[in-house]
Amino acid sequence: MKPVSKAAAAERIAKLKSLINDYRYHYHVLDESTMSEAAADSLKHELSQLEAQFPELLTPDSPTQRVAGQALDKFVKVAHQVPMLSLNDVFDHQELEAWSERVSKMLGSRARDLQYFADIKMDGLACALIYEDGELVTAVTRGDGRVGEDVTMNIRTIENVPLRLRAAKGFELFQKGRTEIRGEIVMYKSDFDALNVQRRAAGEAAFANPRNLAAGTIRQLDPKLVAARPLHFHAYDVLRTTPTDVPTYRYAYDAMRALGVTANTQATVLKDVSAVAAFADSWETKRHDLKFNTDGLVVKLNDRALYAELGVVGKTPRAAVAFKYPAEEATTIVKDIVISIGRTGAATPVAVFDPVQVAGTTVQHASLHNADEIERKDIRVGDTVVIYKAGDIIPQVNKVLVELRPNRTKRFHYETELKRQYPELEFIRPDGEAVYRVKGASGPLLLKKALEHFTSKGALDIDGMGEKNAVALVDSGLVKDIADIYELTYEQVVALDRFADLSARNLLAAIVDKKQPPLARFLYGLGIRHVGAQTAIDLANTFKNLDNLGTATYQEFKDVNGIGETVAESLIAWFTDDDNQALLAKFRRLGVWPEDVKHVGGPLSGKSFVITGSLETMGRDLAAEKIRSLGGTFQSSVGKDTTYLVAGANVGASKLDKARKLGTEVIDEETLLKML
Ligand code: IVH
Repeated sequence: MKPVSKAAAAERIAKLKSLINDYRYHYHVLDESTMSEAAADSLKHELSQLEAQFPELLTPDSPTQRVAGQALDKFVKVAHQVPMLSLNDVFDHQELEAWSERVSKMLGSRARDLQYFADIKMDGLACALIYEDGELVTAVTRGDGRVGEDVTMNIRTIENVPLRLRAAKGFELFQKGRTEIRGEIVMYKSDFDALNVQRRAAGEAAFANPRNLAAGTIRQLDPKLVAARPLHFHAYDVLRTTPTDVPTYRYAYDAMRALGVTANTQATVLKDVSAVAAFADSWETKRHDLKFNTDGLVVKLNDRALYAELGVVGKTPRAAVAFKYPAEEATTIVKDIVISIGRTGAATPVAVFDPVQVAGTTVQHASLHNADEIERKDIRVGDTVVIYKAGDIIPQVNKVLVELRPNRTKRFHYETELKRQYPELEFIRPDGEAVYRVKGASGPLLLKKALEHFTSKGALDIDGMGEKNAVALVDSGLVKDIADIYELTYEQVVALDRFADLSARNLLAAIVDKKQPPLARFLYGLGIRHVGAQTAIDLANTFKNLDNLGTATYQEFKDVNGIGETVAESLIAWFTDDDNQALLAKFRRLGVWPEDVKHVGGPLSGKSFVITGSLETMGRDLAAEKIRSLGGTFQSSVGKDTTYLVAGANVGASKLDKARKLGTEVIDEETLLKML
């Protein structure tokens, strides 16, 4: 490094600190980026070199001073100047209104124009940061509310905690005296998931949930461990020695953000309790898109003088409540563990449950991911398990309640089960992978099946393919995925034993002819598990094009008539899989893309048909296709929603019986033909 004079270094250091702090403020508070992380790191590096050269210029609030210090023997207890309280819960609009009425009654005439302040209730652990004259001096955990532990060393490693409060116009008074900022330490869901992916890959037990991990991390005696785990601090309160410094919660949040402290932008003032209820409703689903976990809102009076006046009962303030959303955990019993095989030949274990309601939907199964996961959690058939489902998120098995395990259950032996469930297949577990795969699956076996299906009559209907040619193309190595057929050349095909000049030309012409297939056929042809011909039609009619399907959410899939959790899960799994994304990108590159659905409906829309017995004029498949093409639905058995039962020759008595019971209209082949 170039030697510089101390005066020049001091000037440069001041500028670097200010620029790095600005970057930090924009990034963590305003959620915008002023420079790349690499550039910021580079500035920090320069700063630390200057500070090493002139140690007398180093101050504790320098951005370089987040580095983890020495490990502690134990934490020092610190008493809170103002106790850190808890909240009473309310679980619905009624209880919320009852709380607001109680509060209003106590305030009498002052309850007029009462304002509420609502924020997301974060699922982390509470912590108080104490700033003296704008500089962070102490950080204390909530502890029992009266006495917490000094975790300053650990908190200093959290990037979004300012070591010095930012100078902000209008908020100068916070730079003098004591400013205590309270908030929640959280780990973001994405960071948590990434950590668990690493843990699993390293063969270590996964962490249970972000909250426990954040809490466990803050209570580490070695700050280096803390620094290695991504934590964030989101503030919800600021305390001053003179309470009138902070007149409202709205002002508190504005002040905290101006001072460089992260506080939720979702927090808002609401003018009456029905607005609070509407706000709560609006976050019930949306909250799952937040970076952190939450199970509710915190609602309080915006006016802090009134808040203080209402006082405390036991450990909870009268002027605030936690609004809790319905539980997203439930217990159920594992009835079976089935292993499913995906397109790439990966074997995925799925737990089948006694159906149970969780957060408003029925959950019947959950992926158990891989053999290691079953082994680690020791999930057995017959076990009672806690399952978790956060809104649109796919249900997961959280843990086994071993205490409730029946006698004589057996450990799930993965390899034995693979043999039992798929006696005809051979599996391998590649080194370093958690997943068993069908031997040779990404190559021959499954690909042959996939290609045959993709080109079959119900799908792209490519004349001249069929099973034998599919096998020949895969075996020749010319086709490594289903999109490869669009890259075949005449020379390649004609060189294969099974082809001559004409058959090669015909096949290639048939392939080219199907570059813009109908969306439903293409979708069906992709071979997504549980997506049969009718489901593909329903999906195509709803989403209209493949791009919409690719970006649809689990809930949007489920909103389609006739699509349940299994299909929605399977669709999400398919569209989020990297291999499948790559496959779609390849199709697009090759100019192969299904047509958009322009008009839905048709003369038979809303009508559903079941055929029994045999038809004289056409096969069942053709009839089904015609019905579907006119907007009707084809079903395999008579149900409440069946409009017509078509009775062909040699009708089955049971179907007629059922139709009679349900009042379904029975028609003959001639009537059907007229409709078609
Ligand atoms: S306000 C009386 N706002 O919830 C304490 N608390 O059950 C009121 N929490 O200990 C604090 N998110 O750790 C407030 N946006 C938020 C919060 C929040 C999470 C925690 C906090 C508190 C607990 C009360």
